Formats: sequence, C-alpha cells, structure tokens
Amino acid sequence: MQNNINLIQPDDWHVHLREGDMLKSVTQFTSRINRRCIAMPNTKIPITSFEKAKEYKETIKKYSSNKNFEPLIPCYLTDDLDLENFRIGLKNNIFIAAKLYPSNVTTNSKSGVTNLKSIYNALEILEDENKLLLVHGEKSKKDLDLFDREKAFIDDELNNIRNKFPQLKIVLEHVSTEYGVNYIQTNNNIAGTITPHHMMLTKDDLYINNNINPHHFCMPVVKTEKDLICLRKAACNNNSKFFLGTDSAPHHIDQKISKESLKPGIFSAVSSIELYANIFEEESAINNLEIFSSINGPKFYNLPVNDTSITLSKEEWIIPEFIAQNTIKVKNFFGGKKLNWKVQDLKV
Ligand code: NCD
Ligand code: ZN
Repeated sequence: MQNNINLIQPDDWHVHLREGDMLKSVTQFTSRINRRCIAMPNTKIPITSFEKAKEYKETIKKYSSNKNFEPLIPCYLTDDLDLENFRIGLKNNIFIAAKLYPSNVTTNSKSGVTNLKSIYNALEILEDENKLLLVHGEKSKKDLDLFDREKAFIDDELNNIRNKFPQLKIVLEHVSTEYGVNYIQTNNNIAGTITPHHMMLTKDDLYINNNINPHHFCMPVVKTEKDLICLRKAACNNNSKFFLGTDSAPHHIDQKISKESLKPGIFSAVSSIELYANIFEEESAINNLEIFSSINGPKFYNLPVNDTSITLSKEEWIIPEFIAQNTIKVKNFFGGKKLNWKVQDLKV
C-alpha cells in the first residue's frame, strides 16, 4: 500500500475567489495547494476590462498563502464588450482566456451573453490570438428543465460556435453529463474540467423529501448515477481531454439557507486535491491523479507544467463543517466527513 504520493503541483482551472472579506478568507486555501488557478470573472461587477483584470490579479496575490501562486483571469464576455480593450488584454497576457456565461444561468450572470452572434467579433479575436474560450455550457431558456440544459447548450449553441470557429480551443467547464463527456471525446479542440462534487453526488443527494439541499445545489446541477460513473471514468483513465477544475464557489451560509435567495455554488477549496485523491483511490486509479491534476490542464492551455511538487500522505482527517473568519461563514463541501489523504508539505 502506498503511504505517500508526490504530485507535480496541481492547478485549479476553475475556481471562484470573489472579493472583499470572502476573497481574503478563501484565497488562502486555493493558493495553499495550487500553483495556478483560473479565478472566474463573475465578480459582482464582472471583469470585462484588462484594467479590472490586472487589479483583481494583484488583490488575489496579496492574500495568497504562497508567494508563487499565480491567478489567471479570463475576460467576462458581454453583448457589448470593448473589443479593443479585449484584444490588448489578450495580447499582453492579462487575459488568459474568455468566459462565456449565457445570461442568467448562474451566480452573477445577468450581464452574460443574450445572443451568441453578439460575441462573434470577440471570438474571432480570441481565435486570432490563439487563446481559449471557456464556456458555462448551459442553455438559458424559460421552462427548459435544469437537467437538460447542458445537452441543449451543446446541441443549439456550442455546435454553432465550433462550426463558425473551428480553430478555437474550447473548455466545456464543469462537464456534468455523459452526453457532454461523449461530445468532448469525439470532437477536436475541446476539453473539459470535472469537479469533485459532480463525481460524488447525484440528484438523489440534491433533494431531501422533495426539498433542495442547498449545500448540494450548484450549476450545472448534479445529475444521475450513470452520468457520475461516466465522469469518473473520464477523469480517472488517463484521458488527456479532462482536467481539474473544482468550481469551488463560496457563498455565505445565510445565502445558502435563505429560501428567497438560494445561490448555486459548492465550496470545496479547503480539501480540493484530497477529495479528488479519494475519488481516484475509489476507482483504483490513484496513480493517474497527477495527469488529471497537473499535466492535462497546462498542455491544453499551452502553458508549462509546474516545476514544484506536493506530497499527499495517507492520513485520515475530518473536513471541518465550516470556514469562519470575521464576517465570513461558509459551509465546506463534505464538511464533517472523513478523507483518507492529506496534503503534507509544499516544496517550492
Ligand atoms: C458559481 C458561482 O457561485 O459563482 N456557481 C455554481 O453553482 N457553480 C458560478 C458557476 O460556475 O456556475
Ligand atoms: Zn464556476
């Protein structure tokens, strides 16, 4: 039995660090484990200019627990983006990518895109600059069942984007269905991030006696057992098209338990790599963790693989129920439950 695993230091290719006190509280966890992260731009006022991205990057760095931590910021696409500013941001590597939130599909997405055609000029620039498009792959349409939104986005929107921009590299973020996994497998220039919670929960965990369990509520919603098994296979079998993206999305506890304003998002930054290690161990694939956590992502983004490492040790520990600091109280995903692996030292 292996008691220690050395991993090339991971990167988290999809995480929400927020702003203000929340940012101060959560950044320390993401930066403890990861060398880089993609800090999502759906802040209260979304990050739509390179000036705002630069400022956000500096603020995150200030609260990192590790000097080497590098936050990477995508531009939040809107119908009326300043294209010159966008181009400058990409050319100067201030923007790592662009993020497409269809309008009103998730937290802070009301400024998102209402009509795909309105971003075609931006996508042309993105393709020219050889930068990636990150998509929240859910179609927003009244009366469309929550569980069908990923497939509808792929069929009705993503196909159009890929036909129009065949060279554009796309990440289907937090892929949540077998349909999405198969789409990624069978098409070029597209990869996917997979969260721990989509590999641990099904819709049976989302509802308790017909009421939603707010702590298991996220977008895209967790799906069926069949989807979960397919996601586990995609992550654990050395498949270069899938990589780590936690979609750790903290909300203050009050916003999770209030019926009027239930916010989607699951916070997993405290134990991210350890949750993945548990999953990979359950799949008898612990030796494939590094490819998923530390190699496939940078390769797809055309970035160097990290030259630092972390050690995971076989050690049982209980995830605390909450993080609480100053005004912040956030429920940890899997809080109160036991994990078998723990990050030890960070060699930098
Ligand atoms: C995210 C958030 O809270 O910012 N929520 C979520 O449920 N995943 C946004 C997102 O990535 O959809
Ligand atoms: Zn997200």
